[in-house]
Amino acid sequence: MANRYLTVGEVARRAGVPISTLHFYERKGLIASERNAANHRIYRRQILRRVAVIKVAQSVGIPLAEIAEALGAPPPGKALDQEEWARVSAVWHDDLTERIELLTALRDKMAKCIGCGCLSVKNCPLFNEDDHLAADGPGARLL
Ligand code: FES
Repeated sequence: MANRYLTVGEVARRAGVPISTLHFYERKGLIASERNAANHRIYRRQILRRVAVIKVAQSVGIPLAEIAEALGAPPPGKALDQEEWARVSAVWHDDLTERIELLTALRDKMAKCIGCGCLSVKNCPLFNEDDHLAADGPGARLL
């Protein structure tokens, strides 16, 4: 039974993250540990797959809060199975597609601003696209 568990150092080494990262993930509710007789953190082997998923999600820019929400509460003895991974990755795929479209649109709008520097609330697409603030009346609208 003892070899079914990993110490925090073993998980850190095998997952390629610092121990402090595992503690951080635990504080954020992303992973859960158990305690041995000496009250040291121990992890089931399945934690390695969960940490790998967290790292992949972070590497594509998904915030930790969204990762935690997608993964749900971490039952200590349960690995992320194929069905759960399919569900989570589908949600992240849609989220990433939305972000890419938003950033692409922002990049295209910003193309007009590069080298301009006018910061015009009348003409700049980043500050006031199509002068939509004019519909709110005269004077400062963004303060
Ligand atoms: S800064 Fe001039 S158009 Fe945006």
